[in-house]
Amino acid sequence: MATPQQPKDHWSAEKYHSAASFVPKLTSTVLTYLAPQPQDKILDLGCGDGVLTAQIAAAVSSSDGGKVLGLDASPSFIDSAKRNHEGTTCSFHLQDCTRLEGCAELREGGWDKVFSNAALHWILRAPETRESVFRRVHEALEPGGKFVFEMGGAGNVAEVQAGFTAALVSKGGLTLREAREASPWFFPSTQWMSQMLGRVGFEVEVCELEYRPTECSPERADGSGGLGGWLRLMGAQFLEAVPEGRREEVLREVEGIVEGVVRREEDGSRWLGYVRLRAVARKK
Ligand SMILES: C[S@@+](CC[C@H](N)C(=O)[O-])C[C@H]1O[C@@H](n2cnc3c(N)ncnc32)[C@H](O)[C@@H]1O
Repeated sequence: MATPQQPKDHWSAEKYHSAASFVPKLTSTVLTYLAPQPQDKILDLGCGDGVLTAQIAAAVSSSDGGKVLGLDASPSFIDSAKRNHEGTTCSFHLQDCTRLEGCAELREGGWDKVFSNAALHWILRAPETRESVFRRVHEALEPGGKFVFEMGGAGNVAEVQAGFTAALVSKGGLTLREAREASPWFFPSTQWMSQMLGRVGFEVEVCELEYRPTECSPERADGSGGLGGWLRLMGAQFLEAVPEGRREEVLREVEGIVEGVVRREEDGSRWLGYVRLRAVARKK
């Protein structure tokens, strides 16, 4: 029998640090909503390189029964998180969060809070697994437990999404439909999210959108960072929709399109149109 193919790992802690280190930093509101307590047992879905997970773990105490477990589908991120942040209150597991039914720690339940930052728009990409993600999170929580998260919401980086779609058609030779289907993201509205949370049994305490333009990190001499580094890292799955030989041309086209929209006249800085969806939902 053929061995099932492992999905490609698009992430690397180094590239993430160069192109998007602001992601775990711009989290003061969602962390206020999470309000980690010493005794809390907290799951972090799509924990990435574990920087934020470790920050949360610093607020919990093993002697009070507290612990934080980060789950992520990227072997490279989980390796880096284990190397740099594993400790008495903080651990990490490789886990595809679209298949949480296979996660023993989650099935055991007993979690006080489930947290996620900047990951659910990837995890919820496929329509057929969306509802099960919410159901598994609900089952894992104690009664009264909270699901607290921030993710891309409706309209997030719309210029990037439109730029990739246009470039995949004009330079990649895809049809418009194929180009749209190459998007790795799902950016829901607050209405969609409130309905979904309610359907699986949560009481929605907060569900809000914030338009938060975010400055791209400076470009580095090695080509990482900057708008190009962000597009290459976050848009890797768009690029994979075309043969390797066409990817650089597609990327240059996207950069050209997006640059015209996000570059600020006064100082040449580039600001992407981030729209964040934040929610706090309580298990009844
Ligand atoms: C932008 S990073 C955010 C990482 C971290 N939460 C932070 O705030 O820095 C998105 C993360 O979602 C993870 N991810 C995407 N799809 C996933 C899936 N199906 N299951 C688990 N993690 C996933 C990626 O591997 C990546 O680490």
